[in-house]
Amino acid sequence: MFEHLQPVPPDPILGLTEAFRRDTNPRKVNLGAGVYRDASGGTPILAAVKAAEARLLAAENSKSYLPIDGLPGFGEVVQGLLFGTHATVVANGRAVTVQTPGGTGALRVAADLIAQVRPETRVWVSDPTWPNHFNIFGAARLAVDTYPYLDRSRLEVAFDALMEALTRMQPGDVMVLHGCCHNPTGADLSDDQWEAVARTLAARGVIPLVDFAYQGFGDGLEPDAQGVRTLVRHCPEVLIASSFSKNFGLYNERVGALTVVTEAATQAQVVLGYLKQVARANYSNPPAHGAKIVHMVLTDPELRRQWEEELTGMRERIHTMRHLLVETLHEKGAPRDFSFLVRQKGMFSYTGLTPEQVDLLREKYAIYMVRSGRINVAGLTEHNVGYVAGAIVAVLKQETK
Ligand code: LMR
Repeated sequence: MFEHLQPVPPDPILGLTEAFRRDTNPRKVNLGAGVYRDASGGTPILAAVKAAEARLLAAENSKSYLPIDGLPGFGEVVQGLLFGTHATVVANGRAVTVQTPGGTGALRVAADLIAQVRPETRVWVSDPTWPNHFNIFGAARLAVDTYPYLDRSRLEVAFDALMEALTRMQPGDVMVLHGCCHNPTGADLSDDQWEAVARTLAARGVIPLVDFAYQGFGDGLEPDAQGVRTLVRHCPEVLIASSFSKNFGLYNERVGALTVVTEAATQAQVVLGYLKQVARANYSNPPAHGAKIVHMVLTDPELRRQWEEELTGMRERIHTMRHLLVETLHEKGAPRDFSFLVRQKGMFSYTGLTPEQVDLLREKYAIYMVRSGRINVAGLTEHNVGYVAGAIVAVLKQETK
């Protein structure tokens, strides 16, 4: 079975973490995978999470299976974050949620659902996008195409080109949008642009699938959900993949959710049946621990307040690092303007560095970033930003020599 196989190249993002671990250079800096780091470079467990875990541990009396669609009540708290309190779409019973193993699991359940109910669907992802989108939709045997997203000279959303691409999508096609903090570019749609996209999708019968992995890392929990809410106001059907890896720091607990909005409540219940079938065939039922933490934190007023404060702290630290990087690059004599970095949102920024420059940064300076030129801004600290900025400037100057 295996003798004819050729080695598979490492994953373009998670492979970097493995290479970073092996690197013995004491100055090494990891700006690769999207994992939050604090001012000392660690990825701590949030205090609200620790407190919830202590309570859970004391009260837990069984490790029996969760239901196929996940922890009872979990869907409700997820929908609260997505749509806000007293949302009509929830009151009307138009939304169903299944708990999934991480945001990737949510996307894969969505992909399998689409493949099952409409196998001819073409899925459109942004160019560029998170590379795993191609793996996930490809694994479900769906056709995947790209729409232009980034104006590469200005490192902003290429909105006219995006809108033009929408006219090429067919009714029933699926458009994957990043709810906020676009991965990899950090360039987000404005409120007006979301409105225009939502209206056009609704008019053309194209279904939005929102990859929502960074709620709270852009401008805050509520503002970051505006895109999703605009889509739900206009489009009869919307799919949303949530991840709690980043905003709860629960990376290895694999907590995510897929929410599907349908035109009518009766359809929502039918779709829930399909979602359970997909979940059952993939992993039977989701893991409990992380979902219990998220549920407890979101339903306990004190823990929730603490979590929101900690989330704000993470967002603000990233924001400070963006400013510091731009200033330091300028001080070190960067031959181009990097001020766009402070306009980008979330953990990631597109630096505009070429794959060759990225390779040089890794080989010569042990600075790790995705070959697309994406950096995880949260990997920067006051201690390493000078080293990183100096290395970037040296690499850029080498090019212009
Ligand atoms: C990233 O884009 O770095 C994160 O979403 C981690 C991952 O799974 O790729």
